[in-house]
Amino acid sequence: MILDEIKNRRSVREYQTKDVDDVLINEIIKAGQFAPTAMNNRAVEFVVIRKQETKDKIFKICGQEFIKKAPVLIIPATDTSKTNCPVRDLSVASENMFLQATSLGLGTVWKNVSIPSQKEELKKLLGIPNRFKIVNIIPVGYPESESPPHTKQDFSKDKIHWNEW
Ligand SMILES: Cc1cc2nc3c(=O)[nH]c(=O)nc-3n(C[C@H](O)[C@H](O)[C@H](O)COP(=O)(O)O)c2cc1C
Repeated sequence: MILDEIKNRRSVREYQTKDVDDVLINEIIKAGQFAPTAMNNRAVEFVVIRKQETKDKIFKICGQEFIKKAPVLIIPATDTSKTNCPVRDLSVASENMFLQATSLGLGTVWKNVSIPSQKEELKKLLGIPNRFKIVNIIPVGYPESESPPHTKQDFSKDKIHWNEW
């Protein structure tokens, strides 16, 4: 049941040193590519980073220890010449990736990249063409510890407005 993955998906910020096989990385990216895109533009591409030196440089740009420690970083990027909804396209692709990672026993977190100078530095470091937009970094690794799933306490009927607010 997809609701199990949705409940079990938690932000993971501490990872084991154990490597993550490319087969699993491909499965996660497949889920990202199967996500809906505005007018079916399918313009989202993915940079996969395993090189420690590059991860260290990314940490210097964006911070948060897990950037250095996660075995793999994935950066989704979309071609703004092909979509008028880049942030939305990247966001739905990311959520699909989070859920697929969860179902594979892997941990992820949305590492925000919103400061324009950070985006520019990252794109320059990784050679991402200028017309591509990025919004986040998705670290992937085996979680160091188990996080509790979401429960019914996280569900609030008060936030549902039937027919009108
Ligand atoms: C748009 C967005 C930006 C986020 N940015 C960060 C971030 O930069 N660093 C981080 O550690 N977590 C970040 N998160 C993760 C949230 O802190 C996390 O989803 C929230 O605390 C709920 O916890 P959960 O994901 O375990 O359910 C972000 C999440 C979203 C949706």
